[in-house]
Amino acid sequence: MSVRKGSQGLPQRLAAICSSDALAVGGLGVRFEVTDESDTWPAFVVRHAQGLAAYINRCAHLALELDWDRGLFFDVDQRHLICATHGALYTADTGECVGGPCNGSGLQVLQVVETEGTVYLSDPRYVGPCREAEAGV
Ligand code: FES
Repeated sequence: MSVRKGSQGLPQRLAAICSSDALAVGGLGVRFEVTDESDTWPAFVVRHAQGLAAYINRCAHLALELDWDRGLFFDVDQRHLICATHGALYTADTGECVGGPCNGSGLQVLQVVETEGTVYLSDPRYVGPCREAEAGV
C-alpha cells in the first residue's frame, strides 16, 4: 500500500487492486473485497469506454452478486453491466439503473484511481482491497 498526499494535503491511502492491463474495455472485471466499519464486501472494477468504474458487487434488486461467471459483468453489447440473476441493467460508468428490476436504484460506487500502470482503491470509506483467494481473479 502506498501513501500519497490527498487534495487537501492529507495522507490518502492507496491500495493496489490490479495492473492496468488486467482490464480491457468491455472485458472481464477484476473482483476484490473491501472492508468498512461494519463488514467486508465483494467488489469489482471494470474498464468501460470512458474509463474505469468500481462498485460494490451487490445488485440493487436483491443482495446478490452481479456476475454471470467470475468477472463477467458486461452484457452482450459490452456497454452496460447486467445482473445475472434477473437481468437488472446498469450504466457501466455511473452504476445508474437503466432497466430491469433494480427499482431505480443504482450500484454503490467505489473511488478508484489509475496511475503508472496500476489501479488503486482510493475510497476513504473502505480499507482494502483484499484480493480473493483464487488465482487468476
Ligand atoms: S438480483 Fe439482480 S436483478 Fe434480481
